[in-house]
Amino acid sequence: MSTSFQNIKGTFDILPDAYTDDGGTRVAPTAEWRYVERTVRDVMARYNLEEIRTPVLEPTDLVARGVGAGTDIVQKEMFAFERAGTNYVLRPEVTAPVVRSFLQHHLDQRGGVQKLFYIGPCFRAEQPQKGRYRQFHQFGIEILGTDDARADAETIAIMTAIYDALGISDTRLRINTLGTPDRREKYVEALREYLEPYADELSETSQRRLEANPLRVLDTKLEHEQKILQEAPQLIEYVSDESLAHYDRVKELLADLDVAYVEDPLLVRGLDYYTETTFELEGADLGAQSALAGGGRYDRLAEVLGSDEPVPATGFAAGMERLFLALDAAEADRPKGPAADVFIAALGEKAERWVFQTTQDLREAGLHVALDLKGRSLKAQMREANRQAADYTLIIGGNELDAEKATVKEMESGDQVEVPFDELTDYLTTKCDVDGA
Ligand code: HAM
Repeated sequence: MSTSFQNIKGTFDILPDAYTDDGGTRVAPTAEWRYVERTVRDVMARYNLEEIRTPVLEPTDLVARGVGAGTDIVQKEMFAFERAGTNYVLRPEVTAPVVRSFLQHHLDQRGGVQKLFYIGPCFRAEQPQKGRYRQFHQFGIEILGTDDARADAETIAIMTAIYDALGISDTRLRINTLGTPDRREKYVEALREYLEPYADELSETSQRRLEANPLRVLDTKLEHEQKILQEAPQLIEYVSDESLAHYDRVKELLADLDVAYVEDPLLVRGLDYYTETTFELEGADLGAQSALAGGGRYDRLAEVLGSDEPVPATGFAAGMERLFLALDAAEADRPKGPAADVFIAALGEKAERWVFQTTQDLREAGLHVALDLKGRSLKAQMREANRQAADYTLIIGGNELDAEKATVKEMESGDQVEVPFDELTDYLTTKCDVDGA
């Protein structure tokens, strides 16, 4: 079979079976996505977070202002379009949308600190490669309404707990503080002044960053640029005593929780809203796209989005696709999809009808039942029973209908028993440990 259509570059289908995409990356099957999502939800529940779901479409201005006009995301990576005078963007991240929703629905009025989590697709028009897609999936959290260092530490602890729960241990947590925006501005001026004489030696990307967002030059992976930066002024020298005290407290709390970290004074992150603590979790063996997750504090974002009061907040987001790369690298266990409890093969029209009706009864009793919907040969039906990995198989033909008894075969042992039709539901629900509906 064929079609002239293909999925859009940088997107991918998630199928019942695993497969390898054009770039040679294994795409996990739906059952594994569900397992990861379930684990994420379990950890979120343990840490007392509530789920929020915001639209995939947001006003372009929300992202432009929230994430920052000078960022790569806003300058180059937005899927934005106009329709009948409204500007839409496919959300490139979820923090700005969550803060919008928090402000719009006055979630502060629920009282206390709001601890929210999300799982869903995001969109960035990046050059696709291993671990980097145009439609990807993030899970993350936002803790809104507290400037307490415990919120920073808890954010990081939740993030690492998820990777621990999935058996991904080969990770490295880098942390840094960006201080407050006023101090950072002074630092950016000093950094720009220091870098300008070197402008000709910088790559095109770094030259552009020097113009739009000099802090991002610190992010360079180029050795000769890293050398230039060795003598550059250090952000930490510009950070206030208050910010340093907050940062020290975060580090103390991480130590209390046995969360290992390394300090990285060059960690600046690619979004403009951060203040104070920032962090990134890296995986081993992931190649160029080594960032599994990242986040930090963003105490001014609510005001940038129009709030008349500050909403101190912290959060992180993680990429699901990179998490799967790390799961593969760690060869961590993953459950298979649920197998059918029972497969019922039918021989002949009369049997087909009986099987169709009985299947319904068994399903109503809570059993996971598979059958043939195509009138295929017994051999083909048995192949299907194997593919479905059914625990029990029944073959119903004229003889069974006359005797009102079914031969039930336990596939693993090969044992067979005869069960009268009127005892079938009880027999199978007991054997398959199903409670009944
Ligand atoms: P981010 O670092 O831009 O942060 O993205 C978080 C994670 O999303 C990355 O570490 C990466 O795993 C994944 N990711 C990003 N872009 C792609 C892509 N094109 N393909 C595959 N995976 C990708 C944020 O988005 C912030 N909103 C995090 C945050 C939450 N900060 C505070 N609260």
